[in-house]
Amino acid sequence: MFTLLKTEGRARRGQLTCAHGTAQTPVFMNVGTQGAIKGAVSAQDLREIGCQIELSNTYHLHLRPGDELVKEMGGLHRFMRWDGPILTDSGGFQVFSLSGRRKIQEEGVTFASHIDGRRIFMGPEESIQIQWNLGSDIAMAFDECVENPAPYAYVKQSCERTFRWLERCKTEHARLKQLADGVNPQQMLFGINQGGILPDLRVWHMQQIASLDCDGYAIGGLAVGEPAETMYEIIEAVEPYMPAEKPRYLMGVGTPVNILEGVARGVDMFDCVLPARNARHGKLYTWNGAMNIKNEKYKRDEQPIDPACRCPVCRSFSRAYLRHLFAAGEMLAMRLAVLHNLYFYNALMDRIRLALEEGTFEAFYREYREKLGARM
Ligand code: GUN
Ligand code: ZN
Repeated sequence: MFTLLKTEGRARRGQLTCAHGTAQTPVFMNVGTQGAIKGAVSAQDLREIGCQIELSNTYHLHLRPGDELVKEMGGLHRFMRWDGPILTDSGGFQVFSLSGRRKIQEEGVTFASHIDGRRIFMGPEESIQIQWNLGSDIAMAFDECVENPAPYAYVKQSCERTFRWLERCKTEHARLKQLADGVNPQQMLFGINQGGILPDLRVWHMQQIASLDCDGYAIGGLAVGEPAETMYEIIEAVEPYMPAEKPRYLMGVGTPVNILEGVARGVDMFDCVLPARNARHGKLYTWNGAMNIKNEKYKRDEQPIDPACRCPVCRSFSRAYLRHLFAAGEMLAMRLAVLHNLYFYNALMDRIRLALEEGTFEAFYREYREKLGARM
């Protein structure tokens, strides 16, 4: 259940109640694709860095260890020892981005496993069954994410099919709920808006899926090659057609600035591999912009990564030490860097929510749009 608490301009402060707890929105979801955050971060660490919702992937967990096994182990929450909300992505995006050879038909997609090349079929029913076995709190509809730009005719027939796939997802989800043997019987289902960077198709598709009364709505197919300005324009075009009383999720986005811009345009939920991936390459976020900790200039720097950060890493370690760990190729470098960056993202959302509560989001937005985008 979603409750809208307050708005400022288009920005929204709300809360999303799932079977495993309530998340305060706007929220950043921490990505643990295979049931672990890359960089040796566990569910225990997630709690410490202020994570509210963990995100895992249908595609990866279906291939390994297998969703049937996860179900046998009591569902994903119990398996990975995370008792907070979990959202699972449907596999649509991963099938399209990870597998080279794939065949898309009305029925679903046939593709080669990135692990052993085995041919696998996934359609809306399979995706929903897998997510049902995993027992996530929020399941995502099976969709096709087209690359940007793509020909109009292709995007049109693709988003018409994604709409039919959503109808099938809803039917299958309702059928499974009837069986009453699920690990998480209160699982919600979100629909995903597609339509490339073509505003009229985006709006048409959004109107279609809004009529199906899903538990929430996502904007997919963005941050896949188009300029950030184009992404903002698309969000502005579809936002008025997204039901105000339902949560809105911008998939796979993005940088701290992208998130700020998304919130300003009425988005409630975000996820991205970027903070963890950047951390593993030494790119760390601070309230004054991004830094590369591997830089020579930090060799004798006794300050924490960000003196304004209260994460477990900044409370203990210096830039000089982190820089040394990266230079020495120590695994601890990655772990500490990932913990800081994820904490930073969660802290950013905290500040955004606070500003919304105080009615000062507009000022916060203007100040931090510049600062967060800087390089130091
Ligand atoms: N993650 C980022 N973009 C997308 C998308 O378009 N569809 C899905 N299912 N997941 C995504
Ligand atoms: Zn920190």
